[in-house]
Amino acid sequence: MQIKIYKDYQALSATVADEIIELVKNKPDAVLCMASGSTPLLTCTLTVEKSVKNNIDFSRVTFIGLDEWVGVPPQNDGSCHWFFQNHLLQALKIPAAQIHLFDAMASNLNEECSKMDKIISEKGGIDLMIVGIGMNGHIGFNEPGISFDKRSHIINLDPMTLSIGKKYFNSPVALSKGITLGLQHLMESKKVILMANGNKKADVIRRTIEETVHTYFPASIMQMHLQSVIMIDEEAAFKLKDETK
Ligand code: PGA
Repeated sequence: MQIKIYKDYQALSATVADEIIELVKNKPDAVLCMASGSTPLLTCTLTVEKSVKNNIDFSRVTFIGLDEWVGVPPQNDGSCHWFFQNHLLQALKIPAAQIHLFDAMASNLNEECSKMDKIISEKGGIDLMIVGIGMNGHIGFNEPGISFDKRSHIINLDPMTLSIGKKYFNSPVALSKGITLGLQHLMESKKVILMANGNKKADVIRRTIEETVHTYFPASIMQMHLQSVIMIDEEAAFKLKDETK
């Protein structure tokens, strides 16, 4: 696990956007998996800007969405679906057949999970997974206590996720479950970037890096991945010991 610290959110996001661009330049049919949320928002904007400026062709890329709120329709602007489509995918012009987002309105959610696992496996795995971290240490909707060897699954959301999750929605929605890639997918990804910015993430970043790996703090799994990078801004790094940085 590597740790990289950037001056601010802008510098962090520009670097992650460059990682995406480099990946696609080197491997035009790459499999890219991303989280939605406040953290990767600027990365999406900058990836779009840089891809236009440098004429990067995303037409052969496969995109995998990390997770989705069960029962929230894709037209809802708080859904992960909406986020990806509007902040990234439409502008990058990735063909619809190569975009795989969980259908959280499906009547058979287990089938959605099997479908996603099959796609990832048929594509030969994820080349680059970009995730955020929740205030309870979750990655995607892999909530505290989740086993590290799960692939896609449905989960009852943690009270902290339910409470913080309200920030994404303009009007009240009934949230209770999530559908998500599992941490086994993370372990199987060729490279994983965990991004975080701001003071409020400093403690969860400290726990991710400096505490013992444990299922009760899912992000600690990053320590076990050989090609994992924690990319954070100075504010999110401020609780790390000097010897860690
Ligand atoms: P955020 O979400 O990027 O909106 O802070 C992180 C997460 O819950 O994974």
